Amino acid sequence: MFTTAAKIGTAELRYGDKTLTLPVLEGTEGERAIDIRTLRDETGLTTLDYGFKNTASCQSSITYLDGEHGILRYRGYPVEELAAKSRFVEVAYLLVHGKLPDRGERDRFSALLTRHSMLHEDMTQFFKNYPEHAHPMAILSAMVVSLSTFYPELARERLHEEEELDVTTTRLLSKLRTIAAFSYKKSIGEPFVYPRHDLKYCANFLNMMFSSPVRPYEIKPEVERAMNVLLILHADHEQNCSTSTVRLVGSAKVNLYASVAAGICALWGPLHGGANQEVLEMLEGILKSGGDVKRVMERAKDKKDPFRLYGFGHRVYKTYDPRARVIKQTCKDVLAAVKTQDPLLAIALELEERVLQDDYFLERRLYPNVDFYSGIIYRAIGIPANMFTVMFAIGRLPGWIAQWKESQEDPEFKIQRPRQVYTGPREQHYVPISMRD
Ligand code: ACO
Repeated sequence: MFTTAAKIGTAELRYGDKTLTLPVLEGTEGERAIDIRTLRDETGLTTLDYGFKNTASCQSSITYLDGEHGILRYRGYPVEELAAKSRFVEVAYLLVHGKLPDRGERDRFSALLTRHSMLHEDMTQFFKNYPEHAHPMAILSAMVVSLSTFYPELARERLHEEEELDVTTTRLLSKLRTIAAFSYKKSIGEPFVYPRHDLKYCANFLNMMFSSPVRPYEIKPEVERAMNVLLILHADHEQNCSTSTVRLVGSAKVNLYASVAAGICALWGPLHGGANQEVLEMLEGILKSGGDVKRVMERAKDKKDPFRLYGFGHRVYKTYDPRARVIKQTCKDVLAAVKTQDPLLAIALELEERVLQDDYFLERRLYPNVDFYSGIIYRAIGIPANMFTVMFAIGRLPGWIAQWKESQEDPEFKIQRPRQVYTGPREQHYVPISMRD
């Protein structure tokens, strides 16, 4: 059922000799918005908002985010509580269905995940043709869009049918994990390890990644737990760049696989999900240069240098990212469990401490984001840097599915097509090349 915001009043906009009365809407957490849908028809005006810094593209009841106070809730549940007490599969169900599963629903969902974990053998052949150095995000996106050629689409008119929705959701969740592990195996030239029916979601992934016919892999409960926490913390983040991409592509009524593949491409960017790989490379660079943290901070502050301090700053968080707080603690727990002392953690802690005392970062309210500590955990688990964003994609998938579903069910469903303010040449006429000198 789609929930709409309540109309709580009006706002007046004066332009020339016209006064336009616009509705003001309020969401369930008190967030207010001026509804400008009639603005163009009434005044001929459009709105200009680079990067959609203050534009709500939809009404949504999935995730609540208050960047001023560092609050993040999925379907009303604080993310810290879910990270501490729940598992990724349960959170995926919560996001897609809008409620926590009962025992029967959870078992059925898990059974479907197991049933759909294999890839069609013809699809496994695709991996052979990618070059060795292919970035796993490119493979991931291409393989996800290819799923649409092997498996049926989720029909819009059957979205409300629980079985139909669960089969497609679990198929994507389960196969994305298998594709991710296979792309890693391909990159290191090892044979694929197939999913096992006796292992849970995260344990299964770890086994596909790190075991081999000659080398069994011991799944440490702390590592499995850390992976659950990381995936939960990444599971949704309202209308971020990749989720907006999924909604935008889906608004052309393309299928879910194609929409998610587009979201994977958006996530790849270093300003978005790709930042976790950049963070690790930045920390490694600091280590190599003898641990000079101050130098990278000076570079980040230098407006002539395009360098940014990766893992800091966020479009909506103007305080500590609540996810970063949980990840920082998980990072310490994992390093203790795998009995590793990573020098990058010491560098990260020092960098954070200095940033939190530096006027440049304080004035701009730049705090560590979700990507700052996640890479150190992945590294401790044995996941290479170019797979970090793939891990993010696995985590974000339930959010993409939930947001795609919600957008398709929105009674105001429209193809997304922003306006622009044209600044090019006025009308001019073609002159043949022989007459142009
Ligand atoms: N290092 C140095 N300066 C920064 C940083 C940073 N990481 N982030 C923002 N700033 C500065 C900008 O230079 C700008 O300064 P100015 O006002 O003097 O020009 C000011 O802070 C505001 O920055 P914007 O780029 O306008 O903020 P925006 O909301 O558009 O960008 C973004 C947010 C892209 C996340 C940015 O903070 C950034 O590039 N961070 C580093 C990359 C990163 O960690 N991305 C992951 C984000 S979390 C995620 O997507 C999962």
